[in-house]
Amino acid sequence: MAFEKNYRVKLTADAFNRVDDSPDEKFYRIPRFTSHIDAAAIEAVTDLYRKKLTKNTRVLDLMSSWLSHLPTEISYRQVVGLGMNVRELANNKQLTDRVVHDLNRQPNLPFSDNVFDVGLICVSIDYLTQPIAVLKEIGRVLNTHSVLIITYSDRYFETKATAAWLCLSNEQRAYLIKSFLNEAGCYEAIELLDCSPGVGDPLYAVVATVSKNTEG
Ligand SMILES: C[S@@+](CC[C@H](N)C(=O)[O-])C[C@H]1O[C@@H](n2cnc3c(N)ncnc32)[C@H](O)[C@@H]1O
Repeated sequence: MAFEKNYRVKLTADAFNRVDDSPDEKFYRIPRFTSHIDAAAIEAVTDLYRKKLTKNTRVLDLMSSWLSHLPTEISYRQVVGLGMNVRELANNKQLTDRVVHDLNRQPNLPFSDNVFDVGLICVSIDYLTQPIAVLKEIGRVLNTHSVLIITYSDRYFETKATAAWLCLSNEQRAYLIKSFLNEAGCYEAIELLDCSPGVGDPLYAVVATVSKNTEG
């Protein structure tokens, strides 16, 4: 997929409704020690991280589980995982710190300004009911010029994905994420990438650089 179109996604009032609108805490109470995408798609995520990440950075893995897919040959200063299930996070060996936090209940992140160098959201952006507020917060906690890498596939928990996500094609979803990033107002150099391995699960990425207006 080339992502050469100029789609603008217009959101309707019900865009962030979900089939299961009960608190996420209930749905994620049971740990899922499973892979949400196949091995080749995971390798595509790791390869993308390999290209974009440098050593000794402070990484924030948002909507994290027991796997972060980070290349093992790179050393990180800190890897903070934020997700919903304490047991999944406890079993994630790449994390140095773990935070259980419901972004749909509270989009504000429990971190100070400028304390991370890289942000990651892997196969999870479709569950956010306030994505623009969360992306603004990510921009606040990441340093200027940090990279945010959002990846997605075509597999998801259907009852927990938003209506906006469900009604769009894989191609259109990249433009949806781009429109969230533009709305958040603190990102530039937004890239839409098709990193699909060619067989099995597709893998798409939206990569952006944090840009803060420090004037005034
Ligand atoms: C499909 S899994 C992906 C997990 C992980 N990023 C990966 O690549 O394997 C979705 C993840 O989103 C997280 N999540 C879902 N709703 C969330 C919410 N409201 N706040 C924070 N995290 C959430 C869950 O904890 C779960 O681990």
